[in-house]
Amino acid sequence: MKDYRVAIVGATGMVGHEFIKVLEQRRFPMASISLLASDRSAGKKLRVNHQEIEVKETDPESFLEVDIALFSAGSETSRYFSPIAAQSGTVVIDNSSAFRMDASVPLIVPEVNAEDIQQHRGIIANPNCSTIQMVVALNPLHKVNPIKRIIVATYQAVSGTGIAAVEELRTQAKQVLDGQPTTAHVYPHQIAFNLLPEIDVFLDNNYTKEEWKMVEETRKIMHANEIAISATCVRVPIFVGHSEAIHVDFSRPISPEEARRILTQAPGVKIVDDPGISLYPQPWPAAGSDEVFVGRIRQDASLPNGLAMWVVADNLRKGAALNAVQIAEEMIRRDWVRQGG
Ligand code: A2P
Repeated sequence: MKDYRVAIVGATGMVGHEFIKVLEQRRFPMASISLLASDRSAGKKLRVNHQEIEVKETDPESFLEVDIALFSAGSETSRYFSPIAAQSGTVVIDNSSAFRMDASVPLIVPEVNAEDIQQHRGIIANPNCSTIQMVVALNPLHKVNPIKRIIVATYQAVSGTGIAAVEELRTQAKQVLDGQPTTAHVYPHQIAFNLLPEIDVFLDNNYTKEEWKMVEETRKIMHANEIAISATCVRVPIFVGHSEAIHVDFSRPISPEEARRILTQAPGVKIVDDPGISLYPQPWPAAGSDEVFVGRIRQDASLPNGLAMWVVADNLRKGAALNAVQIAEEMIRRDWVRQGG
């Protein structure tokens, strides 16, 4: 088994920390690891596989001796450094939205479209967290009974925004419980004990960019431009774990039993569905897990061919770091990573 030289760009961030954990837990075949961030973190030390590794400032030279670079430092950093890294022969797996809809960049969820990786030209995009868990749950059903329309409402944890947002929820929750006034820095309003139907910027069509990512990315990953999709994305005062209420209109009738049977066999999916004992997916127990949890599967009473379901996953793992590492593992398995000298 070969070992690969790996870099994490944004190693000090929320997803960066999860990258380190996932690489360790999965015993990723690493010859070396470079931890990269901004100049603010240069010199800081982080532990990887019981070794103290110094964080370095990201610069154009950072990728000269790197086979696989995992990016999670925002779109601006990706837009600048990914092409430089790709130029020097590094495979970039980018967690930002910078290149996701670029026709020359594969957008990958390994359980759904691993074959698309082959078309990469140095950069592979990791999809939006909410999109990943939705397509893992829906694609196996779509293959059997083509989906015509999806209506989804999301309940998204603050860790998706980054470390500053996690701190903001913690601080505000204490302030509220102590009877103190709160101040909002990261979000436009208080997030503690509140809900914000605004994730990313508003677009001209009055959807948010997050909602539109779910529309466009789902179609690209599933190779299904014909599916009609409408999303409402809501930030909720939860640290980790995104939840989704999904209503799907299929081409033909499908029973909840058939859907459950298909999803029981589906890679990456775990059915948690026994209403009689209040068993259904929840974000708290899902945090730290790799699976996409599906429950509350029922006939959508408003549609002859409809199903409703509730889908939960750890947004930092399957929604970000884990999916990116699975892409790298898939490439290694197929011997698609070129190693430099
Ligand atoms: P730093 O800690 O030095 O600011 P989060 O999403 O949790 O806020 O994390 C964002 C990550 O992106 C951090 O690791 C952060 O590093 C990194 N980052 C932000 N700006 C840059 C930049 N210009 N170059 C490299 N890394 C950056």
